[in-house]
Amino acid sequence: MIDPADYRDRFPILGTCTYLINHSLAAMPAAAEDNLREYARTWRERGIRSWAEGWWEMPVTVGDQLGRILGAPPGSIVMHQNVTVAEAIVLSCFAGSTERNRIVYEEANFPSVRYLYQAQPQLEVVAVADDRAIVDAIDERTLLVPISHVLFKNGEIQDVDPIVRRAHEAGAHVVLDCYQSAGVVPFDLTELGVDFAVGGSVKWLCGGPGAGWLYVRPDVADRLEPTLVGWQGHARPFAFEPELEYADGARRFLTGTPNVPALYAATAGYDVIEEVGVPRIRERSLAHTQLLIDLCDEAGLAIVSPRVPARRGGTVTVSTPDHAACHTELGERGIICDFRPDPVGGVRLGPHFFNTEDEVRHAVSELADIVASGVYERHAGASSLY
Ligand SMILES: Cc1ncc(COP(=O)(O)O)c(C=O)c1O
Repeated sequence: MIDPADYRDRFPILGTCTYLINHSLAAMPAAAEDNLREYARTWRERGIRSWAEGWWEMPVTVGDQLGRILGAPPGSIVMHQNVTVAEAIVLSCFAGSTERNRIVYEEANFPSVRYLYQAQPQLEVVAVADDRAIVDAIDERTLLVPISHVLFKNGEIQDVDPIVRRAHEAGAHVVLDCYQSAGVVPFDLTELGVDFAVGGSVKWLCGGPGAGWLYVRPDVADRLEPTLVGWQGHARPFAFEPELEYADGARRFLTGTPNVPALYAATAGYDVIEEVGVPRIRERSLAHTQLLIDLCDEAGLAIVSPRVPARRGGTVTVSTPDHAACHTELGERGIICDFRPDPVGGVRLGPHFFNTEDEVRHAVSELADIVASGVYERHAGASSLY
């Protein structure tokens, strides 16, 4: 079992508060600051030569590091700004599809993903109750099944295998959003057999903003042609040829100039996740989330996250009389977490491998006090920008 004491001094914010929001913006590794300084030094001293000395290739080399964490072969993951952009590039491969225009996903899908598909006039979006209903809803008109691996509100792990089987039987492609699973729930993209996967780095991967990623299964990558493409997706970008010729593999899913500083920062997170190992993180996470559930039960706080370990991601969501108000009071007591609105919302607590049992106990005991005493009522009408 991981001893948090071995890692805590590598995450400076842990010394200042009870940081339980690793499902949203995980604690920053101190090494991220060193990496950003190295980025600035390179820019200052090497200037334009930096592109040839690593910057240009970073969307692929950083993607390869993620591939080691996520079970994807080299060359199958490329880096982007965020999930929305990655999904838009996937969708752009099917711009000419008229026979198939149905998109099937769960109602609890992340809004950004929902909005992108809803905004396309040529598509018919079918939003269903849960993962089982997705299997039933996929048919021969289905083009894409853009679903979440772990639901953002209550941290429920979705049963992906039957969805992939049914989608492939019907000739549809699966886009798996792994934002809430990558770095805390072990999985292997190759074994899952999904066509595409997307995610970002701010959460359990501890990599900060601006480092979204897109996985394309190698056999799928070579037969698709994204119409949202830029010069990084060309076979010979520095030949500046007038006509488009796609690069091989996931590289053809690139657009223009990469977000270099974000990629420098992100690798600090991936380094520590690789070092600790996702299976060990999962072991620790399950112990933490079980403790959270037991403590909430003892305190009479209702949870809306799954109790079964196999369905439980890294977050436990606690239902309260007023999530926003309870969240504000927790913040004033130095407990950093967030909340999501109902249905299936609540105060979200997301301990990572560097959190201690004492922090988990402290958070639940304070939340129980806030609810029982009614002190949260003084924050009625509270809101939050995270
Ligand atoms: C499951 C899931 N998908 C996507 C996102 C974010 O999408 P984007 O990278 O487009 O901001 C989040 C949270 O921020 C999320 O929880």
